[in-house]
Order: sequence, then structure tokens, then C-alpha cells
Amino acid sequence: MNNLRHLMSPMDFSLQELDEMFDLAADIEKNMKDYSHMCDGKILATCFYEPSTRTRLSFETAMLRLGGQVIGFSDAGSSSAAKGESVSDTIRVISCFADICAMRHPKEGAPMVAAARSSIPVINAGDGGHQHPTQTLTDLLTIRSLHGSLEGFTIGLCGDLKFGRTVHSLINALCRYDNINFIFISPEELRVPDYITEKLDKLGVSYREVIKLEDVMPELDFLYMTRVQRERFFNEEDYVRLKDFYILDKNKMNMAKDSLNVLHPLPRVNEISVEVDDDKRAAYFKQVQYGLYVRMALILTLLGIKGRNTASDKEDANA
Ligand code: CP
Repeated sequence: MNNLRHLMSPMDFSLQELDEMFDLAADIEKNMKDYSHMCDGKILATCFYEPSTRTRLSFETAMLRLGGQVIGFSDAGSSSAAKGESVSDTIRVISCFADICAMRHPKEGAPMVAAARSSIPVINAGDGGHQHPTQTLTDLLTIRSLHGSLEGFTIGLCGDLKFGRTVHSLINALCRYDNINFIFISPEELRVPDYITEKLDKLGVSYREVIKLEDVMPELDFLYMTRVQRERFFNEEDYVRLKDFYILDKNKMNMAKDSLNVLHPLPRVNEISVEVDDDKRAAYFKQVQYGLYVRMALILTLLGIKGRNTASDKEDANA
């Protein structure tokens, strides 16, 4: 119980631990079959109080690919939350059934409340507009794989920088690496929160804020597009006014470097035109694939499972 480790924020892991997890994810990518029994007998619970396609299904796929099994709910309405059960009680119940839990919740801090009462590792799979640490691990692994390192590039983050939890988590994580230049591209109403720019100022990290995407396209090594977060707006009128503020299309792609990589945590609405999908610089579906490898690596890390079954192990087992 004392060694229990959770993932609430990417900052919960040191840079060295993150490097080790990304090395493990890269090994999983190359040797997937060698990991297929690493979690035999283990159970993952996915407790999703908010909609999800990628995060929930990639966690479930990750556990199944590791040989484990999965339980859970994908809708608060089909759980006893609908009858008023607290997150603290729910996690105590889940701890009786599963070895590890991934939780998404619309309220900021809910997975932290769960972790405080849990006897199994809890992973924050997104809490309100706050953090989305496993998307950040996905983004970091994708950048490391495409760029060769997590240092020395210019990244433009574009769209809803106010409510986008993936953006907040990613900025927090990237400002621990050297020589990153941020360009925040958003309408005035959706600027990155002050607490983040204050942190960047304090750390002396290079950033600037702009409104027009066209003005900065030629400078970017990575462009991280985001959708406007309809579910976090207080009124529909503002959402409708801002939702199509940015649309990445072929014309804008023509202004960018050949070596640009376009990322997006997905789901996409209108902010990337489908014509961009065929551009070799569109990396957002590759990014989903990296999300599977890194979630497999995270499950192994939090469960304290090390090593992998090599071909020679299998020969020994069959002897
Ligand atoms: N990127 C992401 O969190 O997608 P889902 O909401 O589909 O899980």
C-alpha cells in the first residue's frame, strides 16, 4: 500500500522516469507479442463519468494486449453515481474488484479524491478542464518519436487554449525540457490561462501569443490543433461564434515547413479540414497509435511489472 503510485499529472514522474516509460513504449511498439502475457490475471477498471472514444478504448485495448481483463462503465448514468454514490465510495468498491483504475470525470480534482481513498493505482484519464496526463504522455511520446528528442523545437498550440485540458497538461510537461519555444494561437476569449503564462514567465520559457494562425505557420515544427470545448462553455452563443475560428486547410499547410508535424488530441470537429489528412505532415492518427503503446507502458509501470518475455524465455518455458 505504501508503494502505491498513481498518475494525476505528468509532473508525478521525473524526467528520467518518463524517459524510461517512453523507452518501454518504444520497445512495446517493436515487440508487441513479447508483452502479450505480462498482465495475465490482472484487471483494469475504466470508470468514465464523461464521454470518450480514444482514452477509454485505448486503455482497454492496452490491458487486453497485455493479457489482462477489463471491467468498468462508460457513462455515469449507468453507474451508482446516478443514485448519488460518491467518487470516494466508488473507488473503495472498485479496489475490491480490480488491480488498477483509469478514471475520467467532469469535475476537476475528482480522480485525486479517488486516489486518496484507493488501494489500487488510479490514473487520471481527464478531469474537467484541468489535466489529461495520459494524453500528454501520448503527445510527448509522439513528439519524441517524430523529432528524435523532446528538446529544441517551436510548437504552436492553436484553438481553445482556455478550456483545453490537453493543452494545459502538455505545456506543463514541455516546460521541463530545454529550448522549447511556444506560440499560443487563440482568439482573445480563449487565451491560455494566466496561471500558465505566469509559470512560463517565472521559468523564463520562451512564448508568445498571437491571433492569426497564418502569421506563424512558417515558423512551426509542431502544430497542435484543438477543438473548441463546447461542453465547457457557459453559453451556446459564444460557442457558435468561436467554434470555426480556426480551420487548418491546404492553403495554410502550403505556408508551413516540409518538416512540420500536425498533432491533435482528437476528436476533431471542423478545425482540421479532412483534405489535410492525406498530407504526410498530418500525424494525428499516428498519435492515437502512440497512445496505445504509452498506456501499455504506464499500466506495466504502475503495476510494477518489469521485463518482457523474450523469444528465449518462451523456448525455456516450452522445454
Ligand atoms: N483525446 C481524447 O481524450 O479523446 P477521447 O475524449 O475520445 O478520449
